[in-house]
Amino acid sequence: MTAFDRDKNAIFMNFGYTAHHQGREPIPLEPEDEIHRYPMQLYHHVAKHINWENADALEVSSGRGGGAAFIVRHFKPKSYTGVDFSPRAVEFCREHYSHLAALKFRHGNAEALSFPDNSFDVVVNVEASLYYPNIAKFFEHVRRVLKPNGYFLYTDLRYEEKIAAWHAQIKALGLKVVHEEDITDNVLKAMELDRERRVALVNTYVPRILRKPFYHFAGLKPETPDAPPHLDNRRYWFFILQKA
Ligand SMILES: C[S@@+](CC[C@H](N)C(=O)[O-])C[C@H]1O[C@@H](n2cnc3c(N)ncnc32)[C@H](O)[C@@H]1O
Repeated sequence: MTAFDRDKNAIFMNFGYTAHHQGREPIPLEPEDEIHRYPMQLYHHVAKHINWENADALEVSSGRGGGAAFIVRHFKPKSYTGVDFSPRAVEFCREHYSHLAALKFRHGNAEALSFPDNSFDVVVNVEASLYYPNIAKFFEHVRRVLKPNGYFLYTDLRYEEKIAAWHAQIKALGLKVVHEEDITDNVLKAMELDRERRVALVNTYVPRILRKPFYHFAGLKPETPDAPPHLDNRRYWFFILQKA
């Protein structure tokens, strides 16, 4: 992504969210943010339920930082630290968001977070835990680094046959489940509405011979990117958990 994204347009790496089709108003955005509407709306949906005033927040797997920057600008926490496993993503973020004083980025592994116990009011994790080989270790760190009453805002997708085990693991975490929601329809609708932009992004920046994995990564069928987007038989869930 870092190699191909010459114009720094790919600052999000998630499938997006919309509730317009369910009669809810689209969130107001600056004109320059319109191209990021659907991925931003996913972060907005994840973040909107809690009070961010004076919060010290950690995002694990902040990627290219679009969501971190959106939360800092929109919800104004006291501090927000993004951590990612990719050194190039961290380097990109440090340069690209240096104007946002509350926002910092560090290289790190979700399964071995190096922050002290009880250090964050909020931990955010968006569409990333599916890549962690040992998610139990990540969950242990989340519980450890959260302050009492702190929130874990967590969203991700899993194949249908894995959902029950995943939910059981989340419920065994020792955090209170404040909210749980299947947002698959909202994500699929966003993918449909954002499909043309995603195809254009891949076609503009990625050489033809390398496009197939990028289409796949964007939720498009590699052979027929103009066909409706899909999540295979995966379902996308959102959780708010709270440390007692
Ligand atoms: C699909 S991207 C999502 C990025 C961001 N949350 C967003 O929505 O734009 C997944 C991210 O997880 C990161 N990642 C994968 N394994 C990780 C690990 N073990 N620790 C930290 N980050 C990891 C990847 O580098 C990538 O940036």
